[in-house]
Amino acid sequence: MATAAVLTGVGTPLELREDVEVEAPRAGEVRLRTGASGVCHSDLSVQNGTIPLPTPIVLGHEGAGIVEEVGEGVTRVAPGDHVVLSFVPNCGDCYFCTRGQGYLCEKSAMQLMGGLLDGTTRFSSAGAPLHQMAMCGTFSSETIVPEISCVKIPDDVPLKVAALIGCGVLTGVGAALNTADIHEGDTVAVLGCGGVGLNVIQAARIAGAAEVVAVDMFDSKLEMAEEFGATRRVKAGTDDPSSVITAATGGRLADTVFEVIGLEATMNQAMDLARQGGEVVLVGVPRMDVFLNLNAALTFLYMAKTVKGCWYGSTNVGEDVPKLLDLYRDGKLKLDELISREIGVGEVNEAFAAMEGGEVARSVINYEAG
Ligand code: APR
Ligand code: ZN
Ligand code: ZN
Repeated sequence: MATAAVLTGVGTPLELREDVEVEAPRAGEVRLRTGASGVCHSDLSVQNGTIPLPTPIVLGHEGAGIVEEVGEGVTRVAPGDHVVLSFVPNCGDCYFCTRGQGYLCEKSAMQLMGGLLDGTTRFSSAGAPLHQMAMCGTFSSETIVPEISCVKIPDDVPLKVAALIGCGVLTGVGAALNTADIHEGDTVAVLGCGGVGLNVIQAARIAGAAEVVAVDMFDSKLEMAEEFGATRRVKAGTDDPSSVITAATGGRLADTVFEVIGLEATMNQAMDLARQGGEVVLVGVPRMDVFLNLNAALTFLYMAKTVKGCWYGSTNVGEDVPKLLDLYRDGKLKLDELISREIGVGEVNEAFAAMEGGEVARSVINYEAG
């Protein structure tokens, strides 16, 4: 039996279930003892309907754990291995994986069904099946995941740190290092300084940005942004980002703008804050009914701007996870500092409220704290 936080319907609080049955791993699957799971905005986005997934569902897609049992044919990992979960499986063989675009792996298609690779789920509670977010379901003390969702890591990496790598860090750092094209001395603007945005900020500095303008509506987040390397702050709703960026660039505006919120207004604003020939990188996940309002001639021809979509930080997890761990070990990447609160799996609703209230970079469920 596992203990899990379950979303039973859009807009309702998560329910703590202590009776969750977890089936044995099938071929190509792995049973994982969950070590830790971050509470990411995308979990909240499933709860509030921004990201449509079937219910009832075990949320949680930013996790790390220890392999307990492997199904038939599993070769990537063995019992006892510590792993980070990639919320997009990475088969290594498909069209995308073989072109260095593992973040688009064809095996991820079934994620929309809330199941594993074959569309079915291994969780049930009170006799009814429970879906599983992103083939992870890390708001459960135990889970079954595809082996191709596992990235083996050294045993000495704290699992609560490893968990954050699985989504927020790979997404944010990847947006700056993989998706964008930042040059030494550039001016970068980051709209939204949450768990993902803070990682965009620190990686933009690693990529050589001289100025990073942080935009958020909470002072608490702007303070965190400065700790993570932002050089200027803009309080959304009070200060005007365009005048701060204008001042930073002698009127040219930003070389690269990252939208890390997922709102129509801030996505459109990002377009206006990029300079001629500049890039806009869309990281935040909007509702399905959001459209951008762009003047085609001005935006793409006369102003020659580029808009880049950024799914999972354009990451190839097999390469990026070790790279990020090296940066962390060398003291160049702040990961411990992302953990504002350690919580139990029964406290996810409170963690959602803390996230919306601007109180935390990340709350992390620490299953090992017992
Ligand atoms: N203007 C400026 N900042 C805003 C606004 C706004 N209108 N609305 C929200 N924010 C800020 C919040 O104050 C918060 O600091 O955006 C930040 C979002 O951070 P989190 O809630 O921690 O979300 P995070 O996990 O970082 O995810 C950000 O990326 O992966 C996606 O689905 C995820 O769309 C979400 C985005
Ligand atoms: Zn693939
Ligand atoms: Zn996430």
